[in-house]
Amino acid sequence: MCGIVAYSGRQQARGILLDGLRRLEYRGYDSSGIAILNSTPYLARAVGKVAELERRVAQDEPQGLVGIAHTRWATHGKPTELNAHPHTDCQRQIFLVHNGIIENYQALKNRLLAAGHQFRSETDTEVLVHLIENAYNGHLESAVQKALLEVQGTFGIAVVHAAHPAEVIVARRGSPIVLGISADASLAASDVSALAQHTTQVVYLEDNEIARLGPGEYSIKTLDNRAVSRSATALERVAGDLERGDFPHYMLKEIFEQPEAVENALRGRVNHSEGVAKLGGLESVLDRLSQARHLIIVSCGTSYYAGLFARYAFETLTDMTVETELASEFRYRKLNIRQNTVVLAISQSGETADTLAALREAKRKGALVLGLVNVVGSTIARETLAGVYSHAGMEVGVASTKSFTSQLTILLLMALLVGRSRDLSYEEGERILRGLEEVPGQIREILKLSDAVRELAARFCQASHFLYIGRKYQYPIALEGALKLKEVSYIHAEGYAAGEMKHGPIALIDPSFPTVALAPADGSFDKVVSNIQEILARSGPVIAITTVGNTRLASLVNHVIEVPHNVEILMPLLTVVPLQLFAYHCAVLRGCDVDKPRNLAKSVTVE
Ligand code: F6R
Repeated sequence: MCGIVAYSGRQQARGILLDGLRRLEYRGYDSSGIAILNSTPYLARAVGKVAELERRVAQDEPQGLVGIAHTRWATHGKPTELNAHPHTDCQRQIFLVHNGIIENYQALKNRLLAAGHQFRSETDTEVLVHLIENAYNGHLESAVQKALLEVQGTFGIAVVHAAHPAEVIVARRGSPIVLGISADASLAASDVSALAQHTTQVVYLEDNEIARLGPGEYSIKTLDNRAVSRSATALERVAGDLERGDFPHYMLKEIFEQPEAVENALRGRVNHSEGVAKLGGLESVLDRLSQARHLIIVSCGTSYYAGLFARYAFETLTDMTVETELASEFRYRKLNIRQNTVVLAISQSGETADTLAALREAKRKGALVLGLVNVVGSTIARETLAGVYSHAGMEVGVASTKSFTSQLTILLLMALLVGRSRDLSYEEGERILRGLEEVPGQIREILKLSDAVRELAARFCQASHFLYIGRKYQYPIALEGALKLKEVSYIHAEGYAAGEMKHGPIALIDPSFPTVALAPADGSFDKVVSNIQEILARSGPVIAITTVGNTRLASLVNHVIEVPHNVEILMPLLTVVPLQLFAYHCAVLRGCDVDKPRNLAKSVTVE
């Protein structure tokens, strides 16, 4: 989604701001812009890639030590140059970039228009810069403060004024802003990846806070004017994660990083002598967790499918009643939140607006709210009472891959932790832990199949539709496999519970409609084979994912991909990998922009 970067320091701002924008590209955007302060402030905006903006800036060579820049993902108004940020006031003195949505913008705009302000764009954002213009009486920070008090909705903003040539003002409510501080410069961004090249010291702004940045200095207060003292913390290593190395795309690099991601998820968290997981982040709530009888998981997209898997895992390993809910639907359901209800928010980015809204709703209702988050220091991580970091490393490709396998690993550890405090035996706990430790090596084996999967993709990538089927633990993997294919290759794909196929989707099957069947040799295998037979009887092509040595499918279907054998509940960690590779290769063969699929954003910060 939209990205912000701001700079006030002693170097020329333009290179630092453009570098920041390039590092934010992975979030998804459709236009970009930059403003740099000088005696005549410089403003440039462009539709399309950041490279287009860079071309213009290279021609103009604007000078200046302070500036702001933005990548926009359109919400209000089409992706045009006039709608791109920064927006400016009537006098072209104030420049502003914004992430989020101003809900009462129409009423504010009507009022500002009546007062004679001239609007140039169709955006909700532009009202902010005119409100600040209205409130300005020589003090920029107070003007921003005053303007924001009138605003309903969400914002992360950065503002500069030509009359304050060393100053950047940033503020947030519901949309992240992080400050990066070094000896002679201060930066701000919506995402640490834009700062990591320049500083190792960061400060996270909280909701309803405003900060004033100058070269190497910052001060924070609340929007209602209370001073805030917050020192900088060390930034986790992200710079290395931003390099693609020899891989042609981040998505492929991240698929190949899964063995390490699972190792990192397990590191220090396995206690063999007790057959249990050790999750430091949950220690403070362990008592409440072991009393809990009801678990509600809230999440979106791929994280939602991890949550669906967790429902099976918790039901198998514990006696908890588990519901997995789409975060965007959570507030519309009347779920019974009792004293012993735990709500677990799962999110790679830790910034997904729907998930955040769901967890705030759960908190309001008195649930114990926990998080499983990848990005350290993100809003969801900070707003949950306790939780676990997945430590998958930075995920740049828009399609989630390594964060999904990390999530599955940690969800299993969580279920094990709860299960072992109840009926689950030591033997069973230990069997799962041993199995988990096998997973990284087994994923390495599966990754060797990448070329074979590419050949398969070449045969099938022109299909218009795909069906993915699986049962029990493999059902969420069918959904995830279908999501991966559609989001990166734009092939329509449906994930279905294998048993549900005959209740409708089977009508679609014909020789041009392939099915990917998840059929490891497990307790559901025979039933999945029956479903495969039903497809074959209607001349539907079938690609089966099964376990090494399971010969039954080879004589039945034309295409079989074999993954190593592990404990049944752990097989999703393996079967998902060929599906990720298949989606990736289909997308490349179809010429799609794999790391930045059209219309998608890495961090979905609007509801
Ligand atoms: C799919 C994908 C999205 C995200 C979803 C939730 O590959 O990446 O579906 O899973 O937007 O994002 P997080 O996990 O950051 O809350």
